[in-house]
Amino acid sequence: MKLLIDSANIEDIKRLKEIFPVSGVTTNPSILAKERSAPEKILNDVYRELDSQDEFHIQVLSDTAEDMKKEADNLLQTFGRSLYIKVPVSKEGFRAIKWLSSEGINVTATAVFTVQQGILAAMAGASYIAPYINRIETYNGDGTEFVQKLSYWLEQSHFKAEILAASFKNTKQIEDALLSGAYTVTVPPPLVDKMSEHQGTDDGIKGFKNDYESAFN
Ligand code: E4P
Repeated sequence: MKLLIDSANIEDIKRLKEIFPVSGVTTNPSILAKERSAPEKILNDVYRELDSQDEFHIQVLSDTAEDMKKEADNLLQTFGRSLYIKVPVSKEGFRAIKWLSSEGINVTATAVFTVQQGILAAMAGASYIAPYINRIETYNGDGTEFVQKLSYWLEQSHFKAEILAASFKNTKQIEDALLSGAYTVTVPPPLVDKMSEHQGTDDGIKGFKNDYESAFN
């Protein structure tokens, strides 16, 4: 399993990487738009915080496969081959996924809402398929069923793609995705914190301290 941080906020990334077993960062244009610097600076700052084995997923913004390819080439020059180029699964996106994958570039097929889109992206050569769990649910879909079906198909097929479950709004969605066959998730910082917390843990820690101090101090 890999836990990625779905954010470009440098303070959150630094803090969470220190505490949790984080394996990289995913961004998209909306995530970059939340930060208060130029996108190039934000991406460079995030990159500096990553370890050499960490994954860095950056999304292209162009409309045509040709322009997506140009964006990807520029990103690769700056961020190296461990970069994952996130490509939304529009028709031009599928063209770009085929093209980039055939050149050995890591591609994350993103904005995936149906199992069929996921299968096509895996066949096109994507390394990761990113279903948007919460957004699937806002379109009355079932995120858990999506992950179960696509992970079953991936296990039966010879394609190398893995699921990178994304777009979470609560920790139950994350748990369900992980238990349904997604081994990699990208999680916004507040939910990474929430995944680790429980009142019972805090009460337990307080109780241990109190018991020890009343007995021995
Ligand atoms: C990550 O790869 C996705 O772009 C992201 O999780 C989308 O999340 P949202 O639905 O909260 O925008």
